[in-house]
Amino acid sequence: MTNYVIADENIAANPRSGAIKLHSAAGFAGMRAAGRLAADILDALVPHVLPGVETQELDRIVYDMTIAGGAVPATMHYRGYTHSSCISINHVVCHGIPGAKTLKEGDIVNIDVTPLLDGWHGDSSRMYLVGDVPIKARRLVEVTHECLMLGIEQAKPGNRLGDVGNAIQKHAEKHRYGVVRDFCGHGVGRVFHDSPEVVHVGRPGTGPELRPGMIFTIEPMINIGRADVKLLDDGWTAVTRDRSLSAQFEHSIGITEDGCEIFSLSSRGLHKPPYS
Ligand code: MF3
Ligand code: CO
Ligand code: CO
Repeated sequence: MTNYVIADENIAANPRSGAIKLHSAAGFAGMRAAGRLAADILDALVPHVLPGVETQELDRIVYDMTIAGGAVPATMHYRGYTHSSCISINHVVCHGIPGAKTLKEGDIVNIDVTPLLDGWHGDSSRMYLVGDVPIKARRLVEVTHECLMLGIEQAKPGNRLGDVGNAIQKHAEKHRYGVVRDFCGHGVGRVFHDSPEVVHVGRPGTGPELRPGMIFTIEPMINIGRADVKLLDDGWTAVTRDRSLSAQFEHSIGITEDGCEIFSLSSRGLHKPPYS
């Protein structure tokens, strides 16, 4: 008994009701612009992700580009978070906090940005390779991107969220990787984290039905080892319990009459590393 409601695209502080919003063309236009800015920011970071750079320098670039783009970083002051991005290195699964820590040759790193533009949240993340990266880590990054795109392929009317999760899980587990259960994709729009929860595992034909107008993220976190995560004492940083490497890609998408629109696609074709 999933509830669906026609979204009121004019109400900024649309509270979570548990219902899944069906957005109109105005919502898609808002998300298109916010998603494009997110993609442009992730594109612009490419030449800056180098050995020796502090993650707070990358966060500063995200802040500056977000403001220059007429947006604000949605993560800033979100539930006490005080940065413009999450930067998650190696065994960090998600929500890594930018700081004085420097990137080193061989690292894999996820940068997750959410510009809030004209009231719409463009939520997207990509992996970056720092210099020469061992094949095992590059393989994880490649397969994680495949997982996201296979999930997106299932995002169309008539399918259910379980079809999306199943496509991701099947591909990851074929490679004997672990799919993180503790964090999910989510409805997105004027609300940052809205219904539904988009789980990255599932059984075909189960879960909420996908209908035109739904807008949500898909953001699988895939571990070389076990799926289990633990939270560090800072209350944000999630790491793999077994310290194995973890990768993630995220897009914001909208369900259309015959499939979906990806709002956060790179206009420069910088979908996954290597970017050069
Ligand atoms: N961008 C993250 C997501 O994909 C959320 C980050 S919330 C923060 O949902 F507070 F950790 F920044
Ligand atoms: Co998200
Ligand atoms: Co995100």
